[in-house]
Amino acid sequence: MAIGMLTLAVASAAGEADLVARDETDGRIMLREWSTSDGGAVRLGESVGQAEFPLRTQVEIPPSLRVNDLLLYVELQGKTSVFVDGVETRPGRGDLIVCPIDAEKPASIRVHEPYSEGRGMTPPRFRQAEIRAYLHGTGRVISMIEMSRGPLGLDGKEIDSWDAESLQQWSGEIEIPIAIQGLQLRGEKLLLKVRAYPEGEVLIGGAAAGRIRGKGTVVLCEQAQPGRKVPFKITLRGRKEEWLTARARILPQAFVDAEKRKIAFDAAWMRWRRLFAQHPEADRWAKQAMASPLALAGVKDYPECREGLARAERALEEFESLLRREGENFFIVRPYLQDIRPDSVKVLWESMFPYEGLLECGSASHRTPMGTLHEATISGLEPGRTYTYRVRCGRLWSRTGTFRTPDPSSKRARFAVWGDNRTDPLMHERVVIEMATAKPDIAVNVGDVVTTGENLPEWVDEYLEPLRFLGRDVATYIAIGNHEYGGFELGPVPPFEARVAHPTTSPGSTEYCYSFDHGPCHFIVLDPNQAKGLKGLRIPPGSAQYKWLLEDLDRSKGARWRFAFFHQPPYSECWSGGYYDGEVHLREEIVPILEQARIDIVFSGHTHDYERGLPHPPYDPATGNGNFVTYIITGGGGSPLDDHKYRDWPQIDIPDHGADPKSDDPDGGMYYQYHFCLIEIDGDRLRFTAHRVDPGGGPGGILDSFELSK
Ligand SMILES: [Fe+2]
Repeated sequence: MAIGMLTLAVASAAGEADLVARDETDGRIMLREWSTSDGGAVRLGESVGQAEFPLRTQVEIPPSLRVNDLLLYVELQGKTSVFVDGVETRPGRGDLIVCPIDAEKPASIRVHEPYSEGRGMTPPRFRQAEIRAYLHGTGRVISMIEMSRGPLGLDGKEIDSWDAESLQQWSGEIEIPIAIQGLQLRGEKLLLKVRAYPEGEVLIGGAAAGRIRGKGTVVLCEQAQPGRKVPFKITLRGRKEEWLTARARILPQAFVDAEKRKIAFDAAWMRWRRLFAQHPEADRWAKQAMASPLALAGVKDYPECREGLARAERALEEFESLLRREGENFFIVRPYLQDIRPDSVKVLWESMFPYEGLLECGSASHRTPMGTLHEATISGLEPGRTYTYRVRCGRLWSRTGTFRTPDPSSKRARFAVWGDNRTDPLMHERVVIEMATAKPDIAVNVGDVVTTGENLPEWVDEYLEPLRFLGRDVATYIAIGNHEYGGFELGPVPPFEARVAHPTTSPGSTEYCYSFDHGPCHFIVLDPNQAKGLKGLRIPPGSAQYKWLLEDLDRSKGARWRFAFFHQPPYSECWSGGYYDGEVHLREEIVPILEQARIDIVFSGHTHDYERGLPHPPYDPATGNGNFVTYIITGGGGSPLDDHKYRDWPQIDIPDHGADPKSDDPDGGMYYQYHFCLIEIDGDRLRFTAHRVDPGGGPGGILDSFELSK
């Protein structure tokens, strides 16, 4: 969508002052250093292994932040306790503590983690802690809502005491509990949520209760009577090779009813949280928003939980109407750059309420049509020049963004590559912050940016919101991953198309497979998720994408450096919990043409580690031996890391420890790390550096580096 150049005078409504959106990073204190009970210092991110492990830290709040409401965020795992100034603080959700800190005195924080287990190099998660400053008056609301989300994240009680009569049959007695996840059962209907692959027959109390295909629920009892014992049996059916260990959980019916409301409530809350984080006058609405957490406070059982959610939903609706009446608006996604060229760049953003967007760049203004998803093209730019821009939303102006247009005659380039950031937005944010510090010209993500593509809030929460530290000033690109296709298998992915603006100038390219030039480099981005063959995903010879690739390789012959990006790797050595060694079809059908074209580096993700193979020429297309191409896997953008090496490929040099295809146990390899790659090109020389990111935030040293030359 191209927006023409036009100049407008920006007028504010009478009596309204322009406001600049606050940046959540203004007041964040990352807690990185802790001392142990025996006096030794521990840096966040170090692995502590199995230990009873009390840690302490004392935080002096800087005077500039004392006017704010300060909240302590501590991420936890299972059995962690947190004490603030000697008082134990309980988790609200299963994995998060959010509690107010007194700004006037130094806070003393103690974390006690009795059952921490080091898993490979992945450190225990409790040590992700920080203090965030919010506008005065909003902290109480935010902490209450964060904590009141607690009872809603339930997934029932797992049945763990049962006997396997054979690989096919599982049986036992379920004793109806008094409470599930702290909420008392008061005679409500209970369900049994069963996993049975490929199919399973379930008997409850000797009677047939239902047949499950994969996952499903059956009725366990109409009225919960705590202490009563109910016999059950699950018998797997279908092909024996597909049988998986059956699993079951008890789930109150009221929870199932509440779950739908919970999803709506959580999504609404994530939007309001952005208002409180960015609007300089957010305290005006804090009182109204209070109604929501109060509706949820103190629920004791499942029906109350369900009713509390309904009240919270109504309160949020009223709050929303109030904001609309007052003509307020704010950014759901702050402005981010796409498709930067020597003479143009695109800016995208999303607003809470529909409005006609306004972007200013120098003396020019650009309008976007009424809506919530906005895209403006700034054109008429000159190569190699620095520009600034800002976007208006309601009474708010975004922070000013700065970008530099590429210069086609330049012999230099500097770009970052990262991938597989899904599922852990906080860790993704830490990787993005380090990447922004490296100041790349552009950055390419090799995919799996969200957990499930059809779950729309994830595009903001998992990808675009953490990206705000980089995306305002640096254009980013995505090589789409299998998780983006979640719910849209093999078909178009509308939320992806709506949130990227990839260059499609090359004839036959799409936003899924495209190419572009940047200085002396040519970038080719492919998508193997659109077709499946007998041996997995593929880009079939003869398909439109395959033909486009051949043409693009031909057209770009003159480029000094050429790079290809696609999510699934042709060669991979590491994975977690089951054998995987890369994609057969890509090795057989795509590698030969990339090798023949002498592409310099192929970047992939999909496996959550760092892997690298320098050239081992010559390449023999008949046997697939050898390689002219450098193969990189950069899947350490935030997703839970892999932990086992299954295969040794001659094309991959790192990780260099031994492979064990028969075991799924963690092997502690040093390349299962959060990281990003930085590529610096100067004429005929290329310097590559993989930067490790500390799991607690901050730089983690150099993971790998090498140079290539022409
Ligand atoms: Fe993947």
